[in-house]
Amino acid sequence: MSLDITTFEPLGDKKNSDFFNEYRMKIFQRRRQSGLEELLNEICALVVQVETGDALAYLEELYLMTPYRLLHTYLNNTHRIFFLESRRSFPHFIVLEPLDSHFTDDLTRLNNLYPLARKKPNARYVGEVFSVNDLAETRKVLESHNIRFHYPDETENKFFSNPHFYFTFPSSMTGNRIGYTPRGSYDIDAMEIGERIELTSAEIKSLEEADAKARDKGAVPLILGVDHMATRILSGEREDAILEFLTMSNYYFWGAYNIADQNSSTNVNRNGNVDDDKCSPAKVFTANNTPSFVNSFENLPMPTEDFVRNFGRRMHHIAYEVADGDHQSGEKNVDFVVETLKNFGVAFLAHVVGECTDEPNLKQIFSKHSEYSILITEYVERCLGYEGFFTKSNVAELTKAAGEDERYHHGNIFD
Ligand SMILES: [Fe+2]
Repeated sequence: MSLDITTFEPLGDKKNSDFFNEYRMKIFQRRRQSGLEELLNEICALVVQVETGDALAYLEELYLMTPYRLLHTYLNNTHRIFFLESRRSFPHFIVLEPLDSHFTDDLTRLNNLYPLARKKPNARYVGEVFSVNDLAETRKVLESHNIRFHYPDETENKFFSNPHFYFTFPSSMTGNRIGYTPRGSYDIDAMEIGERIELTSAEIKSLEEADAKARDKGAVPLILGVDHMATRILSGEREDAILEFLTMSNYYFWGAYNIADQNSSTNVNRNGNVDDDKCSPAKVFTANNTPSFVNSFENLPMPTEDFVRNFGRRMHHIAYEVADGDHQSGEKNVDFVVETLKNFGVAFLAHVVGECTDEPNLKQIFSKHSEYSILITEYVERCLGYEGFFTKSNVAELTKAAGEDERYHHGNIFD
């Protein structure tokens, strides 16, 4: 399938400005004319950094909560770098762990600006990596569109200035980077990431135990792959953040829902070249409808901007699709997965939202955020062949659940 993004009418009820609509189309036309549309493929990796000493615990958490399993580990001058894989056609998951707990780079500096992010100054979703057909040409085209890349001497972490990976500066609107890497040579050993190392036998044992535990109940094999990643940003930067991502990617703006009573909107961008979002997950931006100081007139709940004020603009959650179906226990698969994970000690925000009875629909839930990555994990089951991407009522309930958690943080901000 290849969607014609120039004629696609975005869905949803969130209104966009004439400025947004005009530049959305101009960006699509320029991507075609400049060759970018032909240069970019799928998202081939998601990158997360954790604190020194947290990597193994985070990997164990990923083993229990996701289909990702460790493939290889590398060591460079500053970091241990873990490559995890789920299915071959789905993105890798890359975990960076600084060797020195005093390690500082621009991500640390971003985290240090915000009261709750400061508690784990190196823990952060970094960004996603696109596979490209010609790395030098991709960079040349993007630089001619004013996209700013890292130069080798500009970052303390050499992973971001590797000759096989080109990463952009963290976006001032989202805090996320985008990386690019050649498709043909996505051979990890050939990528000069560092020295390949083996884990200690104790570390290997702990991962084997996590894997056995995850498989034992049969829940983790029902978790398929990443469906979408959602970044929280500021109200006034919503349209710019989407246009920036459209400039840097081959995605299209799928649509946006207005969640008026939470003063929020959810804005979805998808890759039109894949039939299955898990091969190149959707990229979602959530923003307040009005900034917090204006919201003070109405005093609506505003979970999105509460989060940004506490943690800064950054990735909020990664969502995994659960295989659609009824488990032998009589529950829908997602309910079974959540029950099993709760028994493993995983905490969730509220309950599963959405009903799957006799009509196609969505069931979704948020976990509490990971103490290692600060990311929430979402699980989503599209029941009975549900073909849409989101429902407004589910998004409203999930936003509310995250808001209740956010108010808790807000109340404890000076603890
Ligand atoms: Fe989500």
